[in-house]
Amino acid sequence: MALKLQLLAAAVVAVAASCRPGLADPAVGALPGLPVAGLAIGFYNESCPGVEDLVLAEMRAIVEKDRTLGPALLRFMFHDCLVRGCDASIMLESRSNKGEQDSDASYGLRGYDEIEQIKAKVEAACPLTVSCADIIILAARDAVYLSNGPRYAVETGRRDGTVSAKFDADNDLPPPFSNIVDLKTYFSVKGLGWKDLVVLSGSHTIGSAQCSTFASSRLYNFSGKGVQDPSLDKAYAACLREACEPGLEDDATAVALDPTSPYEFDLSYYRRVRGDKGLLLSDQALMDDRWTRGYVERMAAAASPDEFFADYAAAMTNMGRLEVLTGDSGEIRETCAAYVD
Ligand code: HEM
Ligand SMILES: *[C@@H]1O[C@H](CO)[C@@H](O)[C@H](O)[C@H]1NC(C)=O
Ligand SMILES: *[C@@H]1O[C@H](CO)[C@@H](O)[C@H](O)[C@H]1NC(C)=O
Repeated sequence: MALKLQLLAAAVVAVAASCRPGLADPAVGALPGLPVAGLAIGFYNESCPGVEDLVLAEMRAIVEKDRTLGPALLRFMFHDCLVRGCDASIMLESRSNKGEQDSDASYGLRGYDEIEQIKAKVEAACPLTVSCADIIILAARDAVYLSNGPRYAVETGRRDGTVSAKFDADNDLPPPFSNIVDLKTYFSVKGLGWKDLVVLSGSHTIGSAQCSTFASSRLYNFSGKGVQDPSLDKAYAACLREACEPGLEDDATAVALDPTSPYEFDLSYYRRVRGDKGLLLSDQALMDDRWTRGYVERMAAAASPDEFFADYAAAMTNMGRLEVLTGDSGEIRETCAAYVD
C-alpha cells in the first residue's frame, strides 16, 4: 500500500512538472500522446538515409536465424522505455551489478548482442549519427512487422543516456504477478493510460515466458495459498503443469504467451485472455477493469485486426516518447554497451 501511494505521488509530481513552463530538464519532456520536440518521423532522412532499411535487413537476418529473437527485441523496447525513458540505458553495464541489467525485472531479457550487431552495421554506414535508443525502437517496430503485424512509421531523433540504475528497473517495471490496479499505476506514473496498457499488453501475442515467471503465481502458489489460480482455465492449467515442474524456483522452460500462434502478431492473445487462458496474472488482470475488459472483449470478437493495429501504432508511439533525450542532451556512442562503473 505504501508503495502504491508513493507511485501515485510520483505520478502527480510528473504531471505537474511537465506543465511547468520553461523546463530546464529536457529529460522530462512533454506527456506522451503529445508530440515531443526533437523527435520526427524520418529524423535521419538526410544524415543517414538508409538507416531504416539497414535495421530491417539486419532484423530479417536475425529472425531468420532464430525466430525467438523477434519477440525478445520487442520486449527490449518496453524495458528500455519504461526505465529512465527510451535512452538505451538498458544497454549500459555495471561492474558492481547495480545497473538496470542486474534487476530481477530484466530476468530473461534477450537481444543485447543483436542491438549491438545492428548498431555496428549502422555505424559502418553512418558513423556517430544514429542513437542506440532509436535502434531499439526501430528493431521493435520491425519485430512486429516480421511477425505479420503492422508496419507503422516511427519517430526518431532520440539520444542515448549515460545513467543506468538497478533500483530504477526494480521500481518501474511491473512484475508478472501485478494486479490491474498495480498495472494501471505502473503505466500512469509514466503518463500511459489504460488504453496503452491493454493495447501494449497485446504484444504478448508473440513470444514466450519462462516457467519461473508464472508457475508460482498461477499454478502452484496462487496468492501464497499453495493452490492453482482458480480463474485459470482448467485444461490449459493442466498442460502448463506438465511444462513447469512444481517447486523449481529457476525453471527456464519457455512457454508460449499465445500458444495459438506464438510468432503471429494477431488477435488471438485477446481471445485467450477473454477465455481465461492468459498466461501471466498481468494478462488475465486486464479482465478486472471495465475499460480494459471492454477492449479485450471487443478485440476478441473483432473480425479484422485493423483497429488493434492502428491502436498499437499509436500506443508504441506514446511509449517511444517516454522521457526521451533530444537535441544536445545525451550522446551518440560508437557502441551501445558502455560501463557506468
Ligand atoms: C503490462 C505489463 C507487462 C508485464 C507484467 C510483462 C511481463 C512479461 C514477462 C514476465 C515476460 C516473460 C519473460 C521471460 O520469462 O523471459 C514477458 C515477455 C514478453 N513481453 Fe511483456 N510484460 C508487460 C508488458 C509488455 C509490453 C508493454 C510489451 C511491449 C513492447 C511486452 C512485450 C513482451 C514480449 C514480446 C515478450 C516475449 C519475450 C520473448 O519471447 O523473449 N510486454 N513480459
Ligand atoms: C523524411 O521523409 C519522409 C518520406 O518522404 C517524410 O514523410 C518525413 O516527413 C521526412 N522527415 C523529415 C524529418 O524530413
Ligand atoms: C507460497 O507462498 C507463501 C507466501 O508467499 C510462502 O510462505 C510459501 O512458502 C509458498 N509455498 C510454496 C510451496 O512455495
